[in-house]
Amino acid sequence: MDKIKLLQSVPLFSDLSDSSLKKIADQMISRSYSKGQLILMEETLGETFFILASGSVKVTRMSDDGREVILAMLGEGDFFGEMSLLDGEGRSANVVALEDTEALTIKRGEFLGILERYPKIAIKLLEELTRRLRRSDQQIESLSLSDAEQRISITLIRLAEELGTIKGGAVTVKNLPYQQDIANMAGTSRETVSRMFKLLEEKGYITREGKSLTINNFATFLKTFS
Ligand code: CMP
Repeated sequence: MDKIKLLQSVPLFSDLSDSSLKKIADQMISRSYSKGQLILMEETLGETFFILASGSVKVTRMSDDGREVILAMLGEGDFFGEMSLLDGEGRSANVVALEDTEALTIKRGEFLGILERYPKIAIKLLEELTRRLRRSDQQIESLSLSDAEQRISITLIRLAEELGTIKGGAVTVKNLPYQQDIANMAGTSRETVSRMFKLLEEKGYITREGKSLTINNFATFLKTFS
């Protein structure tokens, strides 16, 4: 893997010079995870920061009655593991590979050293944490909606924003998570997700092909469902 090339494409590092990137890349170790593998476990001690080089992960917590609640899905170029490095507490959530995944990792002391040395990275990190807080605020609001179908549509919008690629007004999520995972994000059942997808497809809002799902006109979808 060309670590420098990868870091150049990661928003967190986009303002750095090539020589600074090289110094950071030299401190990073590449690690591979297979689909379904637990990468981080809730409440355990945190010593490592991760950047996704390829693949995707889900960030989850277990509710008291044993249900999995999905807080976020992260894809290529996203980072995770920063929270326990910053506050010294245990891992705030589980992180599980949704597919075969590769990550660049860096140890706590080096990560904190980079934030001190490169204030631009610290600012980018704050920007992303703010974005995640806004998303969580939206998720809290959406989970309080009584209409499960509306919650599923909002979850689809979120997945499209987090994992999708845009082309001519349409947004495609190539490797759509399992319907059970989408149900866990939306706080509903897999059956309701399946029924809602069929309905959206019949009405021409979405197209499905294998594991990929396209929102045919993202602007219209946003206007109709959010
Ligand atoms: P940490 O607490 O070290 O380990 C679990 C990681 O999951 C956490 O750092 C964050 O990187 C990530 N995480 C936790 N909550 C969220 C969220 N709401 N959105 C995106 N990522 C999250």
